[in-house]
Amino acid sequence: MILLLTGTPGTGKTLVGKVLSDRLGLELLEISDLVRKWKCYLDVEDDTYIVDIECLSKHLKGRDDYILVGHLSHLLELDADWVIVLRTNPKELEERLKSRRYPEDKIRDNLESEALGICSYEAREIYGEKVFEVDTSGKRPEEVVSEILDVIWGRRKGYYGIDYLEEYYGGEGNAPVREDYPTHGPPDLSPHPSSRSHIHGHRI
Ligand SMILES: Nc1ncnc2c1ncn2[C@@H]1O[C@H](COP(=O)(O)OP(=O)(O)OP(=O)(O)O)[C@@H](O)[C@H]1O
Ligand SMILES: [Mg+2]
Repeated sequence: MILLLTGTPGTGKTLVGKVLSDRLGLELLEISDLVRKWKCYLDVEDDTYIVDIECLSKHLKGRDDYILVGHLSHLLELDADWVIVLRTNPKELEERLKSRRYPEDKIRDNLESEALGICSYEAREIYGEKVFEVDTSGKRPEEVVSEILDVIWGRRKGYYGIDYLEEYYGGEGNAPVREDYPTHGPPDLSPHPSSRSHIHGHRI
């Protein structure tokens, strides 16, 4: 089984991934480790890697039985069985990112990405019906893992469509139009160095 665990930074992928890999007996692979190990990057700036998605996909081809963790995991072309997108209410996400001492602009970028549902949107474009969202807000990591297991074992219908836009921007029409956010067609999978967003710039 191949499971991709994605979501905006701070949604709990690493924490949840560890528990999930124990429960499922699957190897846990972190994109950030693989990028360094296999030198799958196009550039490095101040300890930030511009990830070479194709390189990662090539290295993982033919491999089975793992959980791939990272906010870019859904962009790899793999024979995945499940794509789980962790979602978190932007208010709660803000607290988590603040306690990680992220700089203010990075926090704002990530909150915007979460409010716009960028990971989910991109994952859905690529992996369609294999994509399920799990809301982590107000839940302990173990509860999040139980929900993921329920989806996988068919005890719970998968869910897609969590929307924090109104809550974050306070009503329709207030959300900014993001030029780097695709409104139709497949997402642009090439690195986007001009973007501020860590998600869209394929940065880790
Ligand atoms: N369900 C949860 N409830 C409360 N706190 C959580 C939960 N999940 C994660 N956290 C906390 O949020 C922070 C981020 O978690 P984690 O590192 O697992 O996120 P991540 O999605 O892997 O982030 P990144 O993409 O930056 O690697 C940690 O401090 C963690 O303890
Ligand atoms: Mg992590």
